[in-house]
Amino acid sequence: MFSVDDAFKKFKSRLELNDKEQANAKDRHKEVREYIETKFKIDRSFLTGSYARWTKTKPLKDIDIFFVMKPSENHYRDKGPAVILDDFYLALVDRYGRDNTKRQNRSINVDFGIRADESDKTDYKVISIDVVPAFDKGTDYEIPDDSLGKWIGTNPQTHAQKAVEAQQAYSSEWKGLVRMIKYWNNNPRHGEKPVKPSFLIEVMCLQCLHAPWGGAFDREVQALFSTLADRVHETWADPAGLGPPISDGMDTARKDRAERLLRQASRDASLAIDLRRRGKNGEAVKAWRELFGPRYPLS
Ligand SMILES: Nc1ncnc2c1ncn2[C@@H]1O[C@H](COP(=O)(O)OP(=O)(O)OP(=O)(O)O)[C@@H](O)[C@H]1O
Ligand SMILES: [Mg+2]
Repeated sequence: MFSVDDAFKKFKSRLELNDKEQANAKDRHKEVREYIETKFKIDRSFLTGSYARWTKTKPLKDIDIFFVMKPSENHYRDKGPAVILDDFYLALVDRYGRDNTKRQNRSINVDFGIRADESDKTDYKVISIDVVPAFDKGTDYEIPDDSLGKWIGTNPQTHAQKAVEAQQAYSSEWKGLVRMIKYWNNNPRHGEKPVKPSFLIEVMCLQCLHAPWGGAFDREVQALFSTLADRVHETWADPAGLGPPISDGMDTARKDRAERLLRQASRDASLAIDLRRRGKNGEAVKAWRELFGPRYPLS
C-alpha cells in the first residue's frame, strides 16, 4: 500500500535539487557570468538565495546569482539603485532580448524559455535566474532596492546558517517542509501567490516550526499551515538584521488574503488527516495531492 507517509517522502525528494538540475544551474551561471564580465568589473559571483540553501521549490525558477562588483564600480553606490538596475537590464537585454529580460526591484530576471509541463517538470532545466548586482560591505553586502529607492544590507551566509541550524534542530526535515509550503504557495490556482515574497515562508518557518520533529508529515504540515495563518500579520524582520522587514512585501489586504488561504489549507489538511485516520488511505493521498499540486505523488 502506498501510504500517506510514503507519498510525503516521495514528494519531499521530488522537491530536492538533483545532479542534473545543479549541472544546468552551474552552466547557466557560467554563461551569464562570462557575459556580465564583459560589461562590468566583477570581483566574484555565486549562486545564492533559496537555491544555495536548498529551500528552493520546483519548478526551478528565479535562481539568484549575486554579482559582487569591484571597487572600481563604486561610483554606482553614489547613485540611486535605479541606475545600476537599468544598466544591468540594458546589458542583459542585448544578450537575451527584451522578451526574456525583466527588470525587478532588486534584480534582473532572465528567462531561458523553458516551460514546465503539466507535472511541473522541466526536464531538469532551470527556467530563469535573477541577476543581483551587489557590493561588499565589510562581511555583508549591499544590494539595490528600487521600491525603497536605496541600497539595502543583506547577508546570504547568515540566512544560510539560520537554515542549517533549523534543519539540524528538526531532524533534518525543516528544509523539506519549507519546500513543500513554498510549492503550495506557487500553485497557479491561487492566482497571485498567497505569501509574498516566498522568502517570508522560510523566515516564518525559522520560528513557526517547533522542534522536535513530531514524526508524521501530515500532522506537521497541518500545524504549520495553521501557525503561518495565525502569524502572517506580524512584522517579520530580516533574520540577518540588515535589510527591511521581509513582511513589507504585503499590505494589509494581501495579508488578510494570505491568512484566509493558509487557514483553508490548514482545514483541508485536517480533512486529509481525518481520512487517513478512518483508514481511507487512497482518498487521503488524493486530498493531499489536491492541496499541493502535481508534484505530490498518487503512487
Ligand atoms: N528584506 C531583505 N533583507 C535582506 N535580505 C533579503 C531580504 N529579502 C531577501 N533577502 C535575501 O535575498 C535572497 C533572495 O531573495 P528572494 O526573494 O529571491 O528569496 P529566496 O529565499 O531566494 O526565495 P525564492 O525561493 O522565492 O527565490 C534571500 O534568500 C535572502 O538571502
Ligand atoms: Mg530567490
